[in-house]
Amino acid sequence: MRWLLLEEKEDDLNRENKDNHDIDSSIFTDDLEKKSIDKRRIKKEDLSKKRAAVESVFDERTVFQLNKLIINGPLDRIEGIISAGKEANVYLAYDQSGNEVAIKIYKIDRNTSKWMKEYIIGDPRFKKIPKNISKLIFLWASKEYKNLKRAYRVGLNVPKPIHVKNNILIMEYIGSGSSPAPLLKDVKDPEDIESLFQEVMTFIKNLYQKAHLVHGDLSEFNILYHNHKPIFIDISQAVDIQHPNAEKFLVRDIINIVNYFDKLGIEFTESKKFYDEVINKDV
Ligand SMILES: Nc1ncnc2c1ncn2[C@@H]1O[C@H](COP(=O)(O)OP(=O)(O)OP(=O)(O)O)[C@@H](O)[C@H]1O
Ligand SMILES: [Mg+2]
Repeated sequence: MRWLLLEEKEDDLNRENKDNHDIDSSIFTDDLEKKSIDKRRIKKEDLSKKRAAVESVFDERTVFQLNKLIINGPLDRIEGIISAGKEANVYLAYDQSGNEVAIKIYKIDRNTSKWMKEYIIGDPRFKKIPKNISKLIFLWASKEYKNLKRAYRVGLNVPKPIHVKNNILIMEYIGSGSSPAPLLKDVKDPEDIESLFQEVMTFIKNLYQKAHLVHGDLSEFNILYHNHKPIFIDISQAVDIQHPNAEKFLVRDIINIVNYFDKLGIEFTESKKFYDEVINKDV
């Protein structure tokens, strides 16, 4: 596939991009949600929206499953919200040994389920695509779990996956105490930008070559900066490299990263060469 053609397609993809990076954060009225641990990142929103967000995450079935995870393990308690988004909320919780864990709970939402199909259909791992919205969202959560497992197993910097059940994903928490690690986009002066850039590019390459995945939504909005290292998150949409759009998504990821680092003064003019290297094409 030609780089230039891919770049043209990039515009279309950007328009379609499900994550418009407008984090729909809010402070909730619910007791659990009140314990916001990172209020600085939480935007004010009108109350009706807040309630809708809470309700769409904590439907009866989800509450039931959370209770089960607390009674039977691995959870001990849920502490508070880290992020409230359009597709999922992320919470800080503790496991039964007292370690912090992050819980991502996907909303059962018809609109969300529509664009998800693009990242599922064509992935050889998923032969049957459920029609039922809940089942599709459950598949999506298990897709993120599977992707994390693949990436973690080959030593990539992603949160360790711990457990998945229905729309609930439990993974390693990235942060210090009750302060979650910041997103790269919120870090004013990341240290040693050149080596950070290299680490992110190496992640793209290893994710493709070792885990056989393309992230598909890689940007400074989905990279945590922890102990001066990038940790890559939000890997639910990542597709197997055999997915028909894998190469287009790879181009988009490379462009996002190169653009972000360009703003920080890193000049990189070899995107095409890098792309060929990643997909192992003769340069
Ligand atoms: N393992 C983790 N440890 C600490 N914080 C995390 C972890 N995973 C996610 N977060 C925080 O939660 C936020 C949302 O997570 P993520 O990007 O996976 O969800 P999302 O799909 O983008 O949700 P939405 O698009 O609905 O906002 C992240 O930006 C990050 O701040
Ligand atoms: Mg995200």
